[in-house]
Amino acid sequence: MSHRCLMVAVVVFITTEAISGEEVMKAVGDQVSFKLDTIVPPVTSITWKQVKDAVVRKVIEWEEEDTTTTIPYLRFKGITTLDVKTGQITITNLTLEHSGVYTIDVSGKEQTQRFTLTVMDLVPKPVIIIEPTGNPGVVYLRCEYSEKIIWKNSAGKTLTGSAITPKGESITVKNERNPEIFYTCSLQNAASEKTSDPVYERDLFKGLNGKFVVWISIVLICLVFIILFLFIPPLYGSCAADCGRQKTSRE
Ligand SMILES: *[C@@H]1O[C@H](CO)[C@@H](O)[C@H](O)[C@H]1NC(C)=O
Repeated sequence: MSHRCLMVAVVVFITTEAISGEEVMKAVGDQVSFKLDTIVPPVTSITWKQVKDAVVRKVIEWEEEDTTTTIPYLRFKGITTLDVKTGQITITNLTLEHSGVYTIDVSGKEQTQRFTLTVMDLVPKPVIIIEPTGNPGVVYLRCEYSEKIIWKNSAGKTLTGSAITPKGESITVKNERNPEIFYTCSLQNAASEKTSDPVYERDLFKGLNGKFVVWISIVLICLVFIILFLFIPPLYGSCAADCGRQKTSRE
């Protein structure tokens, strides 16, 4: 029992460690917060800095003395807030420029805990391209993107795609004769995921099943009858005449 408690404690400890994690991936437009695990009072000043491409910039600075908060750089203005009690910084409306390592000075002393932020572009919403094959009961679905691709069907099953050039994946879809089946393609990066509109089987094999085929068959049969009606009697007539002539010539 005590072993189990210990294990739970260890698991909880590891999990909280992971959550306070010092490497964060975010998408453009997201927000991020960084906070020291511990902050030792009394706190007389707080300075958050960003290190990016070996350039150090002050992000937000607070002094107890005159209770002022300053944000020197335009790129952090209007989107950066500081909780002076906990030292937590929050940056909203992230852009690629906010990537970097964030450090914090408390009461003039740089802390050892650091935070690495990577801001990535949002993945686009993918669009599935339908490509016919030589076989009318089979089509290829293509998702032409360089991000990680996940194919799924309407049952929620993940389907394995094959790589296509120059980029992306395709899957081969057979006509299962169930118009309600659908397929989706999702794009994923470390910070975001987007899924295409579903492509339904009824839109993949439109011309091949159901009423359309019946109508085409009826039209074709009618055409054949019309052609027979127009051409057969004269042919029959000329044949009959020929045959008659042959008969007479033999006699
Ligand atoms: C931040 O984003 C929100 C919603 O996307 C927007 O309303 C707001 O104007 C943005 N603020 C700044 C400073 O860009």
